[in-house]
Amino acid sequence: MKRFPLGHVLLASTIVTGIAMASVGAAPAWAEPSQAQSAFQLVQRAGNTLTVRKGAVIIEVAALRDDVFRIRIGRDGTLPRDESWAALENSRNSKAEVRDEDTDPAFGLATRGGSIQINRISGAISVENANHAVILSDAPSGPFTTDGRGFQLTKMMSPDLHIFGLGDKLAPLDRRGYVSQNWNTDAYTFQERQEPLYKDIPFFIGYEKGHAYGVFMDNTWRSVFDFGVAHQDRMTFGAAGGAIDYYVMTGPTPKDVVSSYTWLTGRSPMPPRWMFGFQQSRYSYPDEKTVRAIAARLRKDRLPADVIWFDIGFQDHNRPFTVDAKAFPHFKELIADLARDNFHSVVITDLHVAHLPGAHYAPYDLGAAQNAFVHRPDGSVYIGPVWPGPAVFPDFTDQKARTYWGNLFRERYIDDNVAGFWNDMNEPSIFTALKTMPNDNVHHIDEPGFQTRDATHEEMHNVYGMENGRATYEGLLKLKPDQRPFVMMRASYAGGQRYATTWTGDNTSTWNHLRLSTPQLLSLGLSGFAYVGDNLGGFVNSPPADLLTAWLELGMFNPIAEDHTDLGTRPQEPWVDGKMHEDIRRRYIEERYRLLPYIYTVGEEASRTGIPMMRPLFLEFPQAGGGLALDLQAPSEFMWGASFLVAPSPFPEEANDYKIILPPGAWYDYWSGQKVENATAAEATGNSGTSSAIVADASQTPHMIMEHPKFGLLPVFVKAGSIVPREPLTQSTEEIPQGPLQLSVYANDTMSGDLYTDDGKTFDFRKGQYFRQHFDGSLTNGTLSLALEAPQGQYRPWWKSIDVTIYGVSMSAKAPTIEGAKATNVHFDGKMHAMHFTIPYQVQTTKLTITMGR
Ligand code: NOJ
Repeated sequence: MKRFPLGHVLLASTIVTGIAMASVGAAPAWAEPSQAQSAFQLVQRAGNTLTVRKGAVIIEVAALRDDVFRIRIGRDGTLPRDESWAALENSRNSKAEVRDEDTDPAFGLATRGGSIQINRISGAISVENANHAVILSDAPSGPFTTDGRGFQLTKMMSPDLHIFGLGDKLAPLDRRGYVSQNWNTDAYTFQERQEPLYKDIPFFIGYEKGHAYGVFMDNTWRSVFDFGVAHQDRMTFGAAGGAIDYYVMTGPTPKDVVSSYTWLTGRSPMPPRWMFGFQQSRYSYPDEKTVRAIAARLRKDRLPADVIWFDIGFQDHNRPFTVDAKAFPHFKELIADLARDNFHSVVITDLHVAHLPGAHYAPYDLGAAQNAFVHRPDGSVYIGPVWPGPAVFPDFTDQKARTYWGNLFRERYIDDNVAGFWNDMNEPSIFTALKTMPNDNVHHIDEPGFQTRDATHEEMHNVYGMENGRATYEGLLKLKPDQRPFVMMRASYAGGQRYATTWTGDNTSTWNHLRLSTPQLLSLGLSGFAYVGDNLGGFVNSPPADLLTAWLELGMFNPIAEDHTDLGTRPQEPWVDGKMHEDIRRRYIEERYRLLPYIYTVGEEASRTGIPMMRPLFLEFPQAGGGLALDLQAPSEFMWGASFLVAPSPFPEEANDYKIILPPGAWYDYWSGQKVENATAAEATGNSGTSSAIVADASQTPHMIMEHPKFGLLPVFVKAGSIVPREPLTQSTEEIPQGPLQLSVYANDTMSGDLYTDDGKTFDFRKGQYFRQHFDGSLTNGTLSLALEAPQGQYRPWWKSIDVTIYGVSMSAKAPTIEGAKATNVHFDGKMHAMHFTIPYQVQTTKLTITMGR
């Protein structure tokens, strides 16, 4: 039997029963809105909007920017309210300059970045990009279908269209041929293609022949997206209730789309620098002694690390905001001692407040006094069982409940100096047959920009977890306004990246989970979440030694690198499988620390632009192979920032050779420093069967090499022309590196790179306390010119000198000459095909001319 019934049937059943799944073949309940042959009439053109109406159906399109259109459709004669948990008010209020573009069959509105048409008879909507290519068009029947309560949109889908996004799906990256459901669910031990999972991010990117567009359906109800399953040439998406309110981003590049989407829903705030360090966790370290022993062993074994996590076991009877005084009698001292040893502590603070009236349990008493909990329809407070037993649930859509929640952090954050907080179980997960709250529970919406009202859990379910993360983030900010909060949350909705990082939940210790961790994290990145990770080694069950090693290798190239495992599994710290494995694991953790200047620079870019740290190939190389997403042929590969290509085996448990696709341009092997010389032109093949061995534009030809997997070696390549900052090894991001900053220059005709740093903790960078430097270079006839441009910002970093390494140059009889700075320590490293020298750091632009000896 198919795991999922056809998309439209599934959605229809969802609406009727409130829970998913209907038998395949049940008649869909969808009907088009009444279509008298009358035409839509113009209601108004006002500013950046165009409004038309036929009967009770009213359609408004608004151009927010040249490349972003918003479409709202009312089904009862009025437009949906302009409210959103996800889309920022400033963005929604933004107005592009528009011109009318009416034609005989359609009303039209155009900007410099695209246009939108509404068919006068059917109301069908189509969107064109700046090149007048139709990128999205409704099926001829019209702009939606409805069963009276829910709605469904049907858009045409061409054979070459591929779909990316929708957050954390454990599936290949391309969503074509995939039905997905969005209903935040505690999915312990989830497996490939299981739906729904923890998060609801109803945003996707359409990508066809190098051009991209985005669609964000802003609706918190249970939703279903079907990309060509029920009908090969159509995509349908809709929700079980609520407003028809969606946005189209016209691109045209995939980066444009991600940038517009994060402009609309917000970007991740700068995290503390320690977030990029190695993090060690388990459910749960049972007592203080064990935590101290874990920290001590990390330091003794010279395994660089920054974070120790405290899972629910550190609490008294699993009650949030308590500490088990027997197992952790000196909690505050423990945190202080860990901090002295450069460890940051992250503690769990689940949202289910123990239902303990009259027991002097402050989180309950304070919330009850303020009526801050979610209710049943009869007005009583809802009580559901979770880790602490019967529990109550803060009503996070009410600002007063968020304030109450935020204040609960005072003791751990201010008094104990805990560094970060973990909001788990926030789907919300409840230990009943439903796995969550009943749909008819009542939430109160009290929120600027929203009509104050009560709403059912059915409406609020998917946004509840995100508002939990928000309450935590905003609470922490109030308590320590100068410090960048670190919050990790499991469930979320679109826009949740503004408040918290996320991870992929309870994965399993299997090779398949390792394999699919890459598309899952890539998809989260495309969907707004730049800072993501999974439980390295897998959470459920225990990984064999080889699997843990491979996972730790790969995880060092993920935004968040956290080793975490389940209750009752064997220890999973890097040393558990003996010296040989530990040595390999250490090597990769160390490499992450050496690359911290690069990682932090890429992290800052993500926060500023929305472009994720971990990137699918099509994001960096949209035109490669004639515009076919290389990711479809190289499903395990990804870009780590703009310079690094990480290329694990697509079947990591096997020893077979595999093909590595190198995107257009030249590449260096990161580990050997050697330029890749033996690559051959790759035959580019798309899912639709189109194949082009020769790409019209030769500069866009991808190449391939065959890789023979070697134990302990994760293939990593650097794009020729990159200038990558590195630093001497430390054991924690708190340590000041000893020695010069390192610049690795990967020789090419032209070269460039960037370096960003700041104090890593506060918001002073907003006041100019940052350091941003751009590097540029060119190579002609053996002369390499390199400019280290004068840094911007007032922050002064730790280095006094810079070690430059130039890869891709060959040893020669005559020594090179270096002009522009006093170079010392000039030498060749034959093994790495590299030339080294050291120059003093200076605040002004340094222009170097390096002439290779012949
Ligand atoms: C579920 C989380 O996904 C997992 O990471 C955690 O260890 C357990 N809850 C216990 O808190």
